[in-house]
Amino acid sequence: MKTDIYALVTGASRGIGRAIAERLARDGYTVLINYKSNQQSALSCQQAIEAAGGKAELLPFDVADGAAIEAALNAWDAAHEGEHISVLVNNAGIRRDGLLVFMNEDEWHDVLRTTTEGFYYTTHHVLPAMLRARKGRIVNITSISGVSGLPGQTNYSAAKAALIGATKALSKEVAARKVTVNAVAPGFIATDMTADLDEAELKKTIPAGRFGKPEEVAALVSFLCSDEASYITGQVINIAGGIG
Ligand SMILES: NC(=O)c1ccc[n+]([C@@H]2O[C@H](COP(=O)([O-])OP(=O)(O)OC[C@H]3O[C@@H](n4cnc5c(N)ncnc54)[C@H](OP(=O)(O)O)[C@@H]3O)[C@@H](O)[C@H]2O)c1
Repeated sequence: MKTDIYALVTGASRGIGRAIAERLARDGYTVLINYKSNQQSALSCQQAIEAAGGKAELLPFDVADGAAIEAALNAWDAAHEGEHISVLVNNAGIRRDGLLVFMNEDEWHDVLRTTTEGFYYTTHHVLPAMLRARKGRIVNITSISGVSGLPGQTNYSAAKAALIGATKALSKEVAARKVTVNAVAPGFIATDMTADLDEAELKKTIPAGRFGKPEEVAALVSFLCSDEASYITGQVINIAGGIG
């Protein structure tokens, strides 16, 4: 009898998603590593997990493309009869910063679509099996930008705030079936996404005086996915070194 318990992490080839994938693999999940195009990084994540004694599969799809999500998850279901995804971490996200007055339509739609389409199609696909199993964990990676709003990020703040609203509403729909839905809101975390920022200047605005590490976000996600966290749902938990 197979005993794999599957955790799907979107955007797991790099940064926060990769740290979450590695952590959940250590927690005993078979991790499905989603990514968009960077297969080399995704393979490196898979190799790191396997070298540490864990299990992982690659599951590429573009979270901004609903049809691509459906096709990839239908193919996964067909290849894994009788199994289902128990943990979903909606992590993939992008930034296209600029003042709204100068923002073009693509910058608006690309950021919104990546977050909201990704949330809808992925969650909509995996939720029925969680509800039938009366157990499941959904963690949405939002941002302090979606909690407070940041100038230059009207598109990103809107996308991340949408994810917070979705987290709160869905958590109430599924709590009775023992599926929890929470959001994690990082501040500045050292990844490729923040590599172009002036860390020395920004550190002065962070009470903790430093950027966070992807592993610190992963530890929080790991806890929210654990049995011990079964009474926490519909929450937005900041992990931002005191910002917010
Ligand atoms: N870093 C921060 O300070 C920070 C703060 C708050 C919130 N966040 C949020 O945390 C999440 C992860 O951020 P990060 O800093 O780890 O980002 P990152 O280093 O830029 O990595 C982004 C990851 O998402 C994947 N991805 C991007 N677009 C995708 C798409 N359309 N379909 C599938 N995968 C896609 C990338 O895949 P490829 O490798 O294939 O490109 C990569 O694995 C994001 O939602 C971000 O908004 C980050």
